[in-house]
Amino acid sequence: MPALTLNDRPVQFEMDAQTPLLWALRDAANLTGTKYGCGVGDCGACMVLIDGEALRSCLVTLAEAEGRFVTTIEGLSRDRSHPVQQAMVAEQAIQCGFCTPGIVIAAAALIARNPSPSEEEIVAAVPNLCRCGVYPRLVAAIQRAGRVARRRERLDAAPAPGIDPADAALAVPAMSRTTAAEAGGE
Ligand code: FES
Ligand code: FES
Repeated sequence: MPALTLNDRPVQFEMDAQTPLLWALRDAANLTGTKYGCGVGDCGACMVLIDGEALRSCLVTLAEAEGRFVTTIEGLSRDRSHPVQQAMVAEQAIQCGFCTPGIVIAAAALIARNPSPSEEEIVAAVPNLCRCGVYPRLVAAIQRAGRVARRRERLDAAPAPGIDPADAALAVPAMSRTTAAEAGGE
């Protein structure tokens, strides 16, 4: 049974080790903030942090995630106070929002290693596809997030979600109820 740390909680998946991490997160852990877009590594909607690196969870098996630290959009911050979350709202860089979790994850990984990225660096580090075309606002939001991370600017936390991640993780066919709920990050 593959074991890993998910949103700061140790979890074990009672699933085939070759299952893509994306499906373990969505179907077993019920962490549906991580989106299925293409399933073949093109869109970035499924990005999660694995040991701090933004990776496409549709291309990572549970076996490959074994023993690693995985953070989903639900676990990025407890109160939507991550600078990227704040700046995405402040810059209105969200339209349909389907691509947004993966973008936020990619941007968070970028800001962590480079809080003052150029537009070219953002384009290279955040290759996610957005069919709504929020790209110009995205660049502004990520640069603003960098200013917040560098404490050059303050922003209020983004609004709380309509559903508690712990509540979203109640139906857990492949993990114990307690473990899955804890993995929600609240
Ligand atoms: S669903 Fe993984 S890259 Fe598109
Ligand atoms: S905001 Fe709609 S796909 Fe990106």
